[in-house]
Amino acid sequence: MFTTLSPAAALPTYDLFDAIERLKRELNAVILAHYYQESDIQDLADYIGDSLGLSRQAAATDADVIVFAGVHFMAETAKILNPEKQVLLPDLEAGCSLADSCPPDAFAAFKAAHPDHLVISYINCTAAIKAMSDIICTSSNAVSIVQQLPPEQKIIFAPDRNLGRYVMQQTGRDMVLWQGSCIVHETFSEKKLVQLQQAHPEAEVIAHPECEEAVLRHAHFIGSTTALLNYAQRSSSPKFIVVTEPGIIHQMQKQAPDKGFIPAPPTTATCACNECPHMRLNTLEKLYLAMKNRAPEIVLEPGLQQQALRPIQRMLEMSA
Ligand code: 13P
Ligand code: SF4
Repeated sequence: MFTTLSPAAALPTYDLFDAIERLKRELNAVILAHYYQESDIQDLADYIGDSLGLSRQAAATDADVIVFAGVHFMAETAKILNPEKQVLLPDLEAGCSLADSCPPDAFAAFKAAHPDHLVISYINCTAAIKAMSDIICTSSNAVSIVQQLPPEQKIIFAPDRNLGRYVMQQTGRDMVLWQGSCIVHETFSEKKLVQLQQAHPEAEVIAHPECEEAVLRHAHFIGSTTALLNYAQRSSSPKFIVVTEPGIIHQMQKQAPDKGFIPAPPTTATCACNECPHMRLNTLEKLYLAMKNRAPEIVLEPGLQQQALRPIQRMLEMSA
């Protein structure tokens, strides 16, 4: 059987870089990329960041077209913030297990069962869940947002049970947690992490709060991807065990070239389960083709977009 190469796949990487730069000028486009994207995409992005940084950039851009190198909920957030702009996602199938773990119908029933609760939703959820929420948060600002609420305020936190539990520990607040999780951050094994620490006693463990409690217990520092990157730069430690998606290590190596970064291994030795299968669906070629074809594009029903906007705006106001 013959495989037909797409015109983009036939181009060498350096030509793709040039072609993407050209299209960027033609479209007046901006390329926003998450740290979990492959290195080439990070290298050509106009802005690389965590979910909060990317939302802020999306809210501030004056580009006509936003090319979002990330997953669907991130591009959807950019569209909610910019209904008049075209938002392109290189692969429309780039979803998120965490967002999928919170179906709208089941969440509506959960919310109805807790009528006097304020709903704080992690940005890793669909527009439908955002529309049912009072405030959106990210892993950068979840603790601070909860701390800004009156102590007597009852709270539902969705969809990530691990981030929710971490926020409860940090704030001393009780919250009702939706039991969702991220397949990538739940893949790290405590046993393997401890073995790695024993092999590298000089290394500090830095971890994302989407990880399970047993893993976070071993962390010297816990934070969002941007917070982990900043910590790796300012810490005097020469080596780090990085307990999040290993895409971030590309930036860590660029910003701290004299330091060592070891990706925490997944539970199963034979898989690359610490890489997000959704994020990794995007490739340089798909990004080029999305810009060339001006598709796939994020399209949202205007009523839903309006409802989902307010809780995102509240987040941006509360983390200014
Ligand atoms: P942050 O971008 O907030 O660090 O979250 C990581 C993540 O899982 C994104 O999907
Ligand atoms: Fe979703 Fe987890 Fe992938 Fe982030 S790393 S996009 S939370 S599945």
